[in-house]
Amino acid sequence: MTPGEDSVAGTSRNLPDRRRLRAISRRLLAWFERSARKMDWRDTDDPYRIWVSEIMLQQTRVDAVTPYYRRFVSAFPSVRALAEAPLDQVMKLWEGLGYYSRARNLHLAAKVLLREHGCRLPQEPHRLATLPGIGRSTAGAVAAIAFRKDSPILDANAKRVLARLFAVQESLTRPSVEQTLWEMSRGLILPGKGRETALALMDLGATVCTPRRPACPACPLHAHCEGYREGRQETIPARRPKKVLPHHDMVAAWIADGKGRVLVGRRPDRGLLGGLWELPGGRRRPKEARGEALRREVREGWGLGIEVGDRIASIPHGFSHFRITLHAYRCRRTGGRPQTDREWRWVHSEGLADLAFPRAYRRLIETVFPKEGKEKPPPRLR
Ligand code: ADE
Repeated sequence: MTPGEDSVAGTSRNLPDRRRLRAISRRLLAWFERSARKMDWRDTDDPYRIWVSEIMLQQTRVDAVTPYYRRFVSAFPSVRALAEAPLDQVMKLWEGLGYYSRARNLHLAAKVLLREHGCRLPQEPHRLATLPGIGRSTAGAVAAIAFRKDSPILDANAKRVLARLFAVQESLTRPSVEQTLWEMSRGLILPGKGRETALALMDLGATVCTPRRPACPACPLHAHCEGYREGRQETIPARRPKKVLPHHDMVAAWIADGKGRVLVGRRPDRGLLGGLWELPGGRRRPKEARGEALRREVREGWGLGIEVGDRIASIPHGFSHFRITLHAYRCRRTGGRPQTDREWRWVHSEGLADLAFPRAYRRLIETVFPKEGKEKPPPRLR
């Protein structure tokens, strides 16, 4: 083959010739026709719903997303409804789904759409990608799925499928390799088939070309798969050695006001768990006792003196880059009034149900107020 004659031009790596790409695409699409997974957001042409689903599906599995998606689009059926909703309500509907900046960005982007685009999503990927929370692959997916554009995607599933199919052995995070993978993804799109190609790559990656133990004999592409031919399907992409995640002890104070209300504060909008509610507290420093850490955090962050009582619970939780254990204690206020730069409230148990808390705090609240029945005394702990 003469370079540039029958290859996809402008790439840093030779791509298969067009005829072979076409043969692969046809097989992929035929497989998708037989095997497409059913999902709520695949039964709609509404770009708003498709956008919401794509944001929820970032780093999150379909079965985890489904109930959240249903509640979300039923509470906010349109861009306008979302844009006009209070952020607290949006966060509440996202509670437990994780990666909360997605919810904040979705809300922010809805406001931009309301203000500048007459509530309509732009159709072109490069314009979609200017909205908060929409990266290049999500932009490609929304354009392809909602607007039938022949735009490529490159989410984690598509990346793995393409890397195996074309035996890409370099690190997939290298920009030049990423660029090649984008060209591969684009090269697989038959005219007018952007939507089906995107969904087929996602489904193949989720059900057949899985991260571990891919089902190669059942794969519609196995006859074309260089990774399989070379027996490298399990070593592409190269697995990064598992890092031991750092662990932090967090302390939290359950401070009641004598009227059955508990003190809660809202985390700043930016950063980890931004915009969610939590109890006064913070991170224990090395060598610091938990009670001491709690008194210090509540004094420094809230201007309150407290006496630390019984432990309510110790709740472990994992984030993508670290782990925590949240140690919560019943505390008694001994002096001062809340003085903090964050938003704060005294709330009743029913009020706690309306606010969005990170998972570990929600579990703590459910320990104190089990779902059925009334407040129960804390379990006896050391
Ligand atoms: N992952 C990202 N988008 C998806 C979609 N539309 N269907 C299935 N998995 C996905």
